[in-house]
Amino acid sequence: MTIEALSDAETILKKIGNTPIVKLESLSNNQTEFYAKLESHNPFGSVKDRAAFWMVKLAEENGLIKRGHSVIMEPTSGNTGIALAGIAKLLGYKVEIVIPEKASDETKKIIESLGATLYQTSDDLCPKVGAGTDQSIALAKSIASARPDKYYSPNQYANEANFMGHYKGTGPEIWEQTKGKITHFFSGVGTGGTITGIGAYLKEKNSNIKIIAVQPQQNHLIQGLRNFEESDKPDLFLKREQVVDDWITITNEEAFASVKEILQKEKMLVSPSSATVYTAMKKYGIEKGCVVGIFADDGKKFKSLYTQQNVLTAEEFDKALKESRYLSKDSLY
Ligand SMILES: Cc1ncc(COP(=O)(O)O)c(C=O)c1O
Repeated sequence: MTIEALSDAETILKKIGNTPIVKLESLSNNQTEFYAKLESHNPFGSVKDRAAFWMVKLAEENGLIKRGHSVIMEPTSGNTGIALAGIAKLLGYKVEIVIPEKASDETKKIIESLGATLYQTSDDLCPKVGAGTDQSIALAKSIASARPDKYYSPNQYANEANFMGHYKGTGPEIWEQTKGKITHFFSGVGTGGTITGIGAYLKEKNSNIKIIAVQPQQNHLIQGLRNFEESDKPDLFLKREQVVDDWITITNEEAFASVKEILQKEKMLVSPSSATVYTAMKKYGIEKGCVVGIFADDGKKFKSLYTQQNVLTAEEFDKALKESRYLSKDSLY
C-alpha cells in the first residue's frame, strides 16, 4: 500500500463513530423526547463499522493478522460484511464473507463491489447461533480452521472488541448528546455488541436508565436482528445479558407499517431494523423521559425487500431516496 493510500485509509477510518442523533417529532411531546441515533452516518453505512474496525484493530495489535497476507473470514447477515469488506480492504486485507442467501440482493452486491468473496448458505436471515442450525458460522469456521496461517475469523458473536467499540464509543456519545438526560435506551440485538456495550456504559453513568431489547417476531424479515425463541443467544450477549431490563417483540407487519409512517411523518427512508426499533419506542408506553433508539442503518439497500413486501412501490422508493432527510452523503458504497 502506498503512503497516500494509507493516509486516505486513516482519514476514512477516523470518520467511524460520532454519528448524529435526531429528534423524532412524530413521537415526541411535552413530557417525552424521542431521538434516533443514525448509525448510517458511519463511512460504510451502519452500526457495524464500529465492531468491524475494533475487531481488525485488536487483531492487528495482537499480531493475529498481517497486512498484505491475511484473509479475514466472517459469517454475517450483511452489515458486518459490508463494514469488514470496506475497512479491511482499505488496510490491505482480503475478505471472505459467509451470508444467508435470504439477505437482500443489494447487500450481497455491495459486499462484492467492495472486493470481498461471498459464500451463501440456506440459514435464515441472520446466521443462527446454536448447534445444528448455525450453517453460516460452521462454514466460516471450517474454511478458516483449514488454513490457520492465512485465515482469521474475528467471530463477532464472541469477540470482546465488538462490545468495546460501543462501550468506548457509542455509549459515551449518547450520554454526551443527551447531556446525561437519557432515561430509556432501545436497540435490536444481533450479536449483542451494541446493546451490551451501550447498556453497560449508560448503567455505569446512571443505573436508573432502562435498557430495552427489541426483537422481531419468529420467522422474521428484519435483516440484522435476531429472535431468541428461534436462535440461541450469542456468547457476547450472554456475558452481559443482565444490562437488559426488558424485552419487546415487534411483528414484520408492525415494522413495515412503521417504514411507511416514518417516511410520511419524519421524511426518512429507514431500514427494517430501524423501523422495528421505532415501533418499539412508540409502543412501549413511556410517559415521561428522554428516549434514544439505535437506527442501525438506512433504507437505501432495501428496495427489493420493500417492493416484494408491498411496503413501497418502486416509484415511491425512488422518490423517497431522492427526498429522504438525513441520508448520509459520504457513504462509501
Ligand atoms: C441492521 C442491524 N444490524 C446490527 C444491529 C446490532 O447488532 P449487534 O447486536 O450485533 O451489535 C442492529 C441493532 O439494532 C441492527 O439493526
